[in-house]
Amino acid sequence: MLEKIHHLREVLSAELSAAKSRGDLEAFRVKYLGRKGILAQLFDELRGIATEDKPAAGKALNEFRSFVQGEFEKQQAHLAGQETPASSVADISLPGRVRPAGTKHPITQTMEELKRIFARMGFTIAAGPDIEDDYHNFTALNFPPQHPARDMQDTFFVSKNILLRTHTSPVQIRVMENQPPPVRVIMPGRVYRNEAVSARSHVIFHQLEGLYVDKNVTMSELKGTLVAFAKQYYGSSVQYKFRPTFFPFTEPSADMYISCFVCGQKGCPICKYNGWLEILGSGMVHPHVLKNVGYDPEVSTGYAFGMGIERMALLRYGIDDIRLYFENDLRFLKQF
Ligand code: DAH
Repeated sequence: MLEKIHHLREVLSAELSAAKSRGDLEAFRVKYLGRKGILAQLFDELRGIATEDKPAAGKALNEFRSFVQGEFEKQQAHLAGQETPASSVADISLPGRVRPAGTKHPITQTMEELKRIFARMGFTIAAGPDIEDDYHNFTALNFPPQHPARDMQDTFFVSKNILLRTHTSPVQIRVMENQPPPVRVIMPGRVYRNEAVSARSHVIFHQLEGLYVDKNVTMSELKGTLVAFAKQYYGSSVQYKFRPTFFPFTEPSADMYISCFVCGQKGCPICKYNGWLEILGSGMVHPHVLKNVGYDPEVSTGYAFGMGIERMALLRYGIDDIRLYFENDLRFLKQF
């Protein structure tokens, strides 16, 4: 009897912890504690035991029954604790939670679209440093020392000869210094100017520069490319005109204007009531610039252009304050 009890104690714990459901537990109860269960059988057997052994066997059996009962109740309580009350079961008919997704900044989006348009026309992409030297930002671009054209762009100087680039044009120099013609590249990037921050100008903005140098590149190719670009970006019905202007690094130079699509040329604040929007500067690369990078201006000719990214997006979306791009106000950014 004592041996049996000893053995049962061992198997029972394993059986109990394997009982994972109410059904399992009930089967356990019937098997051990039921009217015809193991314990009942043991009590029956007790009757047939020798009288002198009875007290010890009876005591052991009673203890064993309390033990089984106790273990059973523990497991019962354990399983009950795991059961989820009906009230907290997930309601699968509730609408799901929408996770907020970020969007690309409008400047990034504009930049990507401009890159796509020029990539389709065969331009590759190049980049240069934001911290430039005077030579690449000015001198090599045919701004002679002391030349008043340097004042066209107010510069942040790091030291006498080092500065934050005021335009992406120095990347033209770096590209041409590193490869012989032909080159056909666009050069997007951030530029810096020491100006008072206002609705119309900022100390940081972005430009996209373009450069094409080969044999026999003409001004009409410049026009053709830029008109094709403007029609893709602003729509095929856009009108355009070129107006002569001055840049030290191009000769001749021209600003490109498109018809104001905001008011249909009737006059509005965006076009300052004259019906035209200036969208970029351009021109034929100055022979001095070609010479400075070791190209032969008798053999190679080319065109270049540069546009402000903020301005492109500003015109297209009708944004009236350039500072909005840099404030990271979600109410603004979420609209794009
Ligand atoms: N670098 C000029 C600026 O920041 C823009 C520009 C004009 C770039 C004419 C060009 C160009 O490449 O040909 O105002």
